[in-house]
Amino acid sequence: MSFPEHRPRRLRRTPAVRRLARETHLVPSQLVLPLFVREGIAEPSPIGSMPGTVQHSVDSLRRAVADAAEQRIGGVMLFGVPEVRDAVGSGADDPAGILNRATEAVVAEVGDALVVQTDLCLDEFTDHGHCGVLRDDGAVDNDATLERYTAMGLAQARAGSAMLGLSGMMDGQVGAVREALDAEGFTDTLILAYSAKYAGAFYGPFREAVDSQLTGDRRSYQLDPGNGREGVREALLDVEEGADVVMVKPALPYLDVLADVKASVDVPVWAYQVSGEYAMVEAAAAHGWIDRRGAIMESLLGIRRAGADAILTYWAVEAARWLRAEL
Ligand code: PBG
Repeated sequence: MSFPEHRPRRLRRTPAVRRLARETHLVPSQLVLPLFVREGIAEPSPIGSMPGTVQHSVDSLRRAVADAAEQRIGGVMLFGVPEVRDAVGSGADDPAGILNRATEAVVAEVGDALVVQTDLCLDEFTDHGHCGVLRDDGAVDNDATLERYTAMGLAQARAGSAMLGLSGMMDGQVGAVREALDAEGFTDTLILAYSAKYAGAFYGPFREAVDSQLTGDRRSYQLDPGNGREGVREALLDVEEGADVVMVKPALPYLDVLADVKASVDVPVWAYQVSGEYAMVEAAAAHGWIDRRGAIMESLLGIRRAGADAILTYWAVEAARWLRAEL
C-alpha cells in the first residue's frame, strides 16, 4: 500500500485553513448597485421580471442610495426612465430630464460617500429604443450618435455624476466623450467603458425595467456572442481612447472574455451581472430549486475569480449585508 505523495486536501480540512487558503475575496466596496428612476411616479413600482427590484421615484431613489452608502458598497449606477421619448432622445441631455434631475438629487444626498455613476446611452430616451440616432434607412448612425453622447455626457457631468457609464457600443464614443469633458473642464469625471458588451438574450428583464421601446435587436453595434478576441480588441481601443475602467457584460456567460481582457489591459476591469443572470437565480430560488444566497455569492465570487475588480449587480446591497455579517 503506497501513500499519496500529494495531499491538497490538507488545505481544505478546517474552516480556519480554508479561510486562510482562499485565493479570491469579495468585499462590499467591489459592488456597484444599478438603480432605475422613473419620471412621474410618486411611489416605487415593482419590476415583474426582476423580483425584488423596483423603478424608483426620485425620493425613493434618494433613500435607496443613502442605504447603499450605509452598506459601504462601491457605488451606484443610475438609469432613467422618462415619460416622453423622441427620435433623438432629447431627455438625455436636458438638465431637467429625469436622469439628470435624479443625479443631482442623489449627489446632494450622499456626496462622495459612494461613487455615483450614470448610464450614458440613448436607448431609454429614444422612441425607437435604439442606443443611437437613426439614419433615414433605419440604421444606427454612429457619428451622429457621438454628438448626442457628448451632449449627454456634459449634462451628466454638470448634474454631478462622478463616472459616466458609456454603454452604447458606438465606435469612438470614449474618445469623443473624454474630449468633450476635458474641453469643458470636467477632467476629473471618470469614464467607465462598457467595452465588451454582447448582444443577446440576457438583457430581457432589463427591457421591462426601462420600459424599452426596442423592436429588432442591437446586433449591428453590440458584440456577437461567439467572439472573444473582438471583446479584447474593443477593450484595448477604449483604453487607448482614455477609458478609466473597462467592462465586460454580461458576466457569467463571458468569464473567458473577462479573464482575457484582465490579462490584456492595465486599467481596472469590471463586469456587469445583468438582469437575465439575476432573474434566473431569483426564479429558480422562488421555486425552491436552488439555494438563493449560495448561488448569488458563488456567482459573484466566480466573476471576481475570472478577473473582475468590481461587479455591477442588482444584489449589491444584500450581498454587502451578508459579507459584513460573515466578518
Ligand atoms: C443600455 C443598457 C442595457 C443594459 C445596461 N445598459 C440594455 C441593452 O443594452 O439592451 C442592460 C442591463 C441588464 O440587463 O441588467 N442602456
